Parts: sequence; structure tokens; C-alpha cells
Amino acid sequence: MNRNIVLIGFMGAGKSLISKSLAMKLRRPVVSTDQKIVEKEKRTINEIFEQSGEQYFRQIEKDVVARLAGEENLIIDGGGGIVLDPQNITFLKANGILFYLFATPQEIYRRTQREAHRPLLQVKDPLRRIEELFGRRESFYAQADYTIDTNQKSPDLIRDEIITLFNAAPPVRFQQEE
Ligand code: S3P
Repeated sequence: MNRNIVLIGFMGAGKSLISKSLAMKLRRPVVSTDQKIVEKEKRTINEIFEQSGEQYFRQIEKDVVARLAGEENLIIDGGGGIVLDPQNITFLKANGILFYLFATPQEIYRRTQREAHRPLLQVKDPLRRIEELFGRRESFYAQADYTIDTNQKSPDLIRDEIITLFNAAPPVRFQQEE
């Protein structure tokens, strides 16, 4: 079974860019959880949050994660909040290696400030919001198998670092002993 490569991390950490780059280099299909949600709902992420609320979005996200986690050979570009539900992590880890793309809040602010497709960052003081959410989520992201520091690294370097770690990972996850 070919394990999935799963990218997690805060909004703007570079998950989409790196997952596409990985997919090209490894000739694997790439799937974005956000993209799947948008296709399923036939509305944008902003519309889903606005019309149905975050909780509804998280339920759809959970359904999408459960389905994707059962597949193999994928590069999964995970939405920044998928780590908030512990079951999502369990599902994804069962058949995948999780890579946390780390960037500092300041760097995330720099990368996201001109974009408008993320409802959680459409606030008066986005840097403050990023710092708040980042603080709350750090321990969730830390559950990844590997943390990749993306600050001041080229996308190619990040991609190659992930490939090296993935190739060195054991082919199956060993069951934990009781
Ligand atoms: C979210 C991250 C977004 C998207 C939604 C919520 C989050 O995905 O799922 O706006 O809670 O961090 P990206 O991380 O791809 O921007």
C-alpha cells in the first residue's frame, strides 16, 4: 500500500504550492480538502462560512478527510483547521505520513495579507487573529510525523526535504503495543 503524503499547517504556510510541486515530482495525484469541499457544496469557502457557519464547514471537512484517508498514493493538501478534530489526525495517520509546514505568524501574515478567500482572516487586525489562532493550534500541528520549517526556504528545497523524509519512513505504521 502506498501511503499518502499529507501536508498540514496554518493558512498561508505553503501547503497548496508544495503539494502541487510534490505531485509533479512524484507523479502522484494531488487533492485539496478545501477544493473537495467547494466541489461538494458548490459554493466558496467564504460562502459556506457566511451562510452555514464554521461548524457546518468542519463537518463537511471531516467527511472529506475520512474519504480521502481511505485512499492511497495521494498528496493531500489539508485545510489549516483539519487538525482541530483529533479523529481527522487518526484517520490521516492510519495510511499517511503527516508533514507540518511551519511558518511564523509574521511570515504567515506577509504571505496572506493580499488574499481574501479565507473567512477566518477577514478581520480588522489579521496579524492579531493569526497570532491568536496560531497559539491555540500549535499543539495540534505538533502531532505531525515531521515538522518542516518553511521560513526562508525555497519551495524546491521544502519539497525535496519532504521527499527525503518520506522515502526514509517505514512502509507501514507499526501497531502500538498495549
Ligand atoms: C482554514 C484554512 C483554510 C480553509 C478555511 C479554514 C483554517 O485552508 O480550510 O478557510 O481554519 O485554518 P488553507 O489552510 O488551505 O488556507
